[in-house]
Amino acid sequence: MINKSLRELAQAKNFYLGAAVLPNLLKKDSKYTETLSSEFNMIGTENCMKWRAIHPDINKYTFDESDGLIDFALKNDMAVRGHTLIYSRKMPEWFNNIKDKKLMEEQLEEHIKTVVGRYRGKIYAWDVINEEIDFEGNHQQSPLFKMLGISHIENAFLWAHKADPDVKLFINEFGIEEINKRSDLTYKMIQDLLQKKVPVHGIGFQMHRALGSDDKWLNKLPDLESMRKNFQRFADLGLEVHITEMDIPIQKAIGSYEEKLIEQGKAYKEILEVALSVKNFKALVVWGVTDLYNWIDFISQTKDAPLLFDREYKKKPAYFAVKKALEE
Ligand code: G3I
Repeated sequence: MINKSLRELAQAKNFYLGAAVLPNLLKKDSKYTETLSSEFNMIGTENCMKWRAIHPDINKYTFDESDGLIDFALKNDMAVRGHTLIYSRKMPEWFNNIKDKKLMEEQLEEHIKTVVGRYRGKIYAWDVINEEIDFEGNHQQSPLFKMLGISHIENAFLWAHKADPDVKLFINEFGIEEINKRSDLTYKMIQDLLQKKVPVHGIGFQMHRALGSDDKWLNKLPDLESMRKNFQRFADLGLEVHITEMDIPIQKAIGSYEEKLIEQGKAYKEILEVALSVKNFKALVVWGVTDLYNWIDFISQTKDAPLLFDREYKKKPAYFAVKKALEE
């Protein structure tokens, strides 16, 4: 049997398998570039399209990195998940300091129309809203929310839709993979938006879940039955379902490195199988190409191994687990 890449297997299923990308690595590491384009058919824009990166000052846009990344995707026939138009925790200071309601709304509209308009026809899906819900399951009391309330969410979708009528518009959230207070609020919010005919097309489950740990950012592995029911209820709203930022850190788990990798592979497979059982599930994006560059190392200051390829680009048990799930 011919040894197919993950990309080929995904393609055959009409499915997107993506990785989050940091554009500077495309310039400095040819193995990174080669692995990305041969194994994946989608790119997640990890940081370069975030507001602080792309619109650092009121009258300043910096499109170099994102333009380059979109060109790369087009040349390599890869779809793009644009991340993200509104990330209320990470808005630039200049935006949070706006004291006038009308000015804030105008800035938001201008940003969304400019960024979405620039990449019209080149992006498959946008995370319009990222991490809107706080840890207690309420709307985040960010300067943005305090000033404009829920209307900024409705408007963001309407503006984005106007700027690119064909792009799919998502709400993306962490820790809502199962049925819980936070996924309930997300579900209710989307139901309300859809009732008002706001163009919401998809739900993104980030899936930053860990072996052997359960803190507020990195929850333990999901309960699979609850996850299945939860994915299904969002799909039943007519939404496209994506896993948008998957990684499974192993540093808190017990056992040898090899044992942890096997356990990690099992988790990738089980989660992907459950997701694939939901009809509208169309994309899985892992939050990085290789363990060599991953955000867990950065926040924990410990070398972790959350992804599909190891630090030498060797395929890990997690790679073969994803492969198996895509072959089934
Ligand atoms: O690489 C530089 C380093 O040279 C410099 O010395 C250092 C000083 O702070 O910064 C390093 O850059 C950091 C970068 O991560 C490294 O990859 C940035 O400060 C840091 O802000 C950045 O964090 C990103 C984080 O979002 C904040 O925007 C992560 O890369 C990125 O993976 C992470 O992604 C988020 C999603 O957008 C939303 N969901 C959760 C996910 C993980 O936090």
